[in-house]
Amino acid sequence: MGIIDEIKERLDIVEFIGQYVPLKKAGRNYQALCPFHTERTPSFIVFPDRQNWHCFGACGTGGDIFSFVMRRENMDFSEAVRYLAQRAGIALLPRSEEEAAASRAKKLLLEINEEAAAYFHRLLLESADGERARRYLARRGIEKETIARFQLGYALDDWHALERHLTSKGYHVPDIVAAGLLAEQEDGGQHDRFRGRLMFSIRNMQGHVVGFGGRVLDEGLPKYLNSPQTPLFDKSSVLYGIDLAREAIRSEGLAIIVEGYMDVLMAHQHGLKNVVASLGTALTEGQLKTLKRLTKKLALALDSDAAGDRGTLRGLETARQVMDRQVVPVPTWKGYITYETQLDAEIKIITLPPGKDPDEIIRDSPEAWAGLVKEALPVVEYYFRALTADLDLQSPKGKAEAVSRLRPIIAEIGSSAERAHYMQELARLVKMSERALEMEIKKQAPARPTPEAKKSGQFSGFPGLSLSVERYLLFLLMHDPALFKTVNEVLARVQLKPLESEDFGQPEHRQILAMLLDKKEHGEPFQIEELDLSAEPLWGNLYQEWREFLGHIASLPETDLALAAGRCALQLRKLRLEQRLVELQYLNEDAQRDNDSEAMKRWGELVLQCSHEEGRLDEALSKVTVLGYKYKEESPLL
Ligand code: CTP
Ligand code: MN
Repeated sequence: MGIIDEIKERLDIVEFIGQYVPLKKAGRNYQALCPFHTERTPSFIVFPDRQNWHCFGACGTGGDIFSFVMRRENMDFSEAVRYLAQRAGIALLPRSEEEAAASRAKKLLLEINEEAAAYFHRLLLESADGERARRYLARRGIEKETIARFQLGYALDDWHALERHLTSKGYHVPDIVAAGLLAEQEDGGQHDRFRGRLMFSIRNMQGHVVGFGGRVLDEGLPKYLNSPQTPLFDKSSVLYGIDLAREAIRSEGLAIIVEGYMDVLMAHQHGLKNVVASLGTALTEGQLKTLKRLTKKLALALDSDAAGDRGTLRGLETARQVMDRQVVPVPTWKGYITYETQLDAEIKIITLPPGKDPDEIIRDSPEAWAGLVKEALPVVEYYFRALTADLDLQSPKGKAEAVSRLRPIIAEIGSSAERAHYMQELARLVKMSERALEMEIKKQAPARPTPEAKKSGQFSGFPGLSLSVERYLLFLLMHDPALFKTVNEVLARVQLKPLESEDFGQPEHRQILAMLLDKKEHGEPFQIEELDLSAEPLWGNLYQEWREFLGHIASLPETDLALAAGRCALQLRKLRLEQRLVELQYLNEDAQRDNDSEAMKRWGELVLQCSHEEGRLDEALSKVTVLGYKYKEESPLL
């Protein structure tokens, strides 16, 4: 597959153009006001089926995703390819022979999978042995139409049936092994991996078969067998049903995530088409990133006994990190602006009744399912319930424990209004006055979100642009080295040392900062071209983000940039400090255990010093967020 095809395969034109202009669904297609000329009625149409666009108004032109980018970004073709390749996460040209070979190999595996899926499907519909599977599906209430739509299949109870079929079609055994359809034996031979099973073909967003799941038709074990890891199949990042659900997820603005194959089948059969399955795993970052391209609203169906489960909580934390954060400027009184982390997504939890799968619930009563979806709880409220289920909230001990468990979660909430709301909720839950609650919190050790959680926080000077704090600060400094002075002044105000490369966590950022400092010393300007951006693995999407950044800051006043730089520097410093504090606390605990009074004194003093620094940082940060600013003179920091 050439790079052009690969880009087209990975990027959906509706999603892509939707990032530039708000698209509205009109029949099978999407329409918008033409981004290339001024008009009052929309004549710009995007065709998902053909993956192209056309302006039926004054422009009278159209094209594919490449021509859209060329016009919109004012690029020539090769620039557009570079740009889109980066968007699609494809290694940049020139492609090595090795990469070209890998992509040819993938294409072959896809073909083998498609052929196998068609074969299994035919066997399910037509073979005599398939009668078992047909009866099984009937018993589980799966209709013909669903069988066809999902191309369900049946693998014969035979050690070599698929192998014979595929080799007769001209495919070679080693390739079929690579596709995960044959398992290798110790004696060097091989046999069909899936035998006597009901087959689910697992597809990617574009509808290509990347792997299979097979269910036994009796009580045998394992109940489900999935494809092994292959170049195409990574169980942790697939979503069963995504190809059939993507349209509905986008148009309904909500994705419902269930656990299993049967749940998806039953949901779609009842017209609930925005449902996908995570295949039994906790939601992963890869899955979330896929979903995020379609919607910002997710509802996760969770087992009632998943509540309070550590794995579940970790999964939700990932979800919040991937989906949730974006710091945006919020206009407040008198034209002032404040920066706040806003919820960039809405994640809700559907709690299932004990021992029931969505499959059974929907089959018994679609209305009951609709009710559960309607009652889905926002994540924080779910945490409230999940984390306190085992506590006696009447006893002082239970109350203290509830506060200590929920406080870090509340502290993580970016929006101050929402945070205040949940503090009230917490007060109500433990039946304390808010004052008493504050006292209780002061009594307990300080709550700290984990450094990892913080590091992935997004900071953005502008809606739609989301960069890590580190990258944002770095870009600001690359854009205008004079901001070094501002940043260092801000840090000096709170009696902290100037910015240094250790403030940055990512190695490539440290390297760029070192270059910037060096240039500054010699009074030379920095050019992004000096970075060898073709050394792709190192720089990732840096160049693309840099372009976006330039576009966005073009419309911001200088004071905004200075303030943003100061704020980023404070945030980075705080993060570093938090990590140090954690380390010191460990050292301190060790010293206490060893009864080493000298060490205790030393660490204790350092903890104190760090806490003071943290206090100053917090105060500085809170001033920027709460007060906002209008003119340089008024800003509390500049
Ligand atoms: N799963 C899997 N591999 C396993 C077990 C489970 O991939 N060994 C995935 C499947 O996608 C399965 C889902 O996890 O659908 C949920 O597993 P489970 O609750 O055990 O099965 P159900 O979906 O309830 O299956 P069924 O209703 O067919 O019994
Ligand atoms: Mn089930």
